Amino acid sequence: MRTIEWRSGVVVTLDQTVLPVEEKWIEMRSCREVASAIKEMKMRGAPLIGVAAAYGLALTAYHSKAETEEDLMQELEKCAETLRKTRPTAVNLFWAIDRVMNKARTIQGNLEELKKAVVSEAQAMADEDVETNRRIGKHGAKLLSNGDTVLTHCNAGSLATVDYGTALAVIRAAWEEGKRIKVIADETRPKLQGARLTAYELMHDGIPVTLITDNMAGYVMSKGLVDKVIVGADRIVRDGVANKIGTYTVAVLAKEHGIPFYVAAPTSTFDLSKRSEDVIIEERSPDEVTHFGSVRIAPEGVKVMNPAFDITPLKYVDAIICEKGVLTRKEFLRLVKEKV
Ligand code: MRU
Repeated sequence: MRTIEWRSGVVVTLDQTVLPVEEKWIEMRSCREVASAIKEMKMRGAPLIGVAAAYGLALTAYHSKAETEEDLMQELEKCAETLRKTRPTAVNLFWAIDRVMNKARTIQGNLEELKKAVVSEAQAMADEDVETNRRIGKHGAKLLSNGDTVLTHCNAGSLATVDYGTALAVIRAAWEEGKRIKVIADETRPKLQGARLTAYELMHDGIPVTLITDNMAGYVMSKGLVDKVIVGADRIVRDGVANKIGTYTVAVLAKEHGIPFYVAAPTSTFDLSKRSEDVIIEERSPDEVTHFGSVRIAPEGVKVMNPAFDITPLKYVDAIICEKGVLTRKEFLRLVKEKV
C-alpha cells in the first residue's frame, strides 16, 4: 500500500494526524491543498513531502486553464513558491520542487507536452522513491544480526515515504531475510510519530515493537536492551544530520553506551554544500507542547520552545545508509571533501 497516489488529477493520501485511531484517506486537487496538508502534517517525513510537492506541481499542470506555456510556467512558479514556504528543514522538499521545475524548463513549444512532462516527472519520482528505499533496506540489512534489538526515533517508515521507509526499510529488509529483529520505538514528543505511526506500521507488519517514552532511552540502553540505533534524516549536511528533535539526545546516549548509531536516508536528503549553521530548524506552535491532543497540560502563558528538529554532529554517526550503499563516517567525510 502506497502512502500517496496519483489518480488522474487527484492526489490521495492517508491523513497522518488522525492515525492510528482513524485510517482516513484524503483527496487533494490543488497545489494549495497539498501545501496545507504538508504544513498541517497530514503528510510528513522528508521523502514523502518531497513527492507530495512534486504532485502539487503536477496538480497545477493537470488542472491548468493556461493557454500558453509562459502562463503555465508562471502558475508553476507560483505553486513552487507556496510549497517552498510550507516547512523549512527537510531538503527533499526543495530538491523535489527544483527537479520538477528544471524538467518543466526543458520543454519548449508545446503546452500539452509541458503538462504531461510535469505529471510524469512527479510520478517517476514517486516510483523512484520506492525503489530507492528498497535499496536502502538491502544495503542496511547487512548491518543487522539475527536477534538484534534496534531503537528508532520518530517515524522513518512507509508513512514517511511513498512506501517501505528508510530506517524502517532496513528493519523490514532484515526481517524479510529471516532475521528476528525487535524494535524499540521512542514515542517522539510532541507529535508522537513514534507512538502513533512507527508502532502502528511495525505492528501491521508483525515485527515485534515495544514503545517507550523518549526519556526512557538512556535506561533501556544502560540495561543492555539496545544493540543498534537507526534513524532517518531530514537534511544531511557536511558536518551533521538534521532529524526529528530528540535524535541528538539518542545519538549521544548511544555513543556513551557503545551502541552503533546509523542514519538511513536517500541521497536526495544530502545537502553537501551546507553546514549545520545553515540549516533552518522549524519552530512549531507552542500548543504542541502545552497540550496533549486537545487537553492543556501546562499553565496558560508559560514560555515554550518547540524546535521540530535537531542536528546530530557527525562524530556520533557510525554510518549513513543510502541507496548507493553503506557509507562509514570516514567514507562520508571523503565524499564531503570531494564536494568542496
Ligand atoms: O516532522 P516530521 O514528522 O516530518 O519529521 C520526520 C522525521 O524527522 C523523519 O525522521 C525524517 O523525515 C526521515 S523520514 C524517512
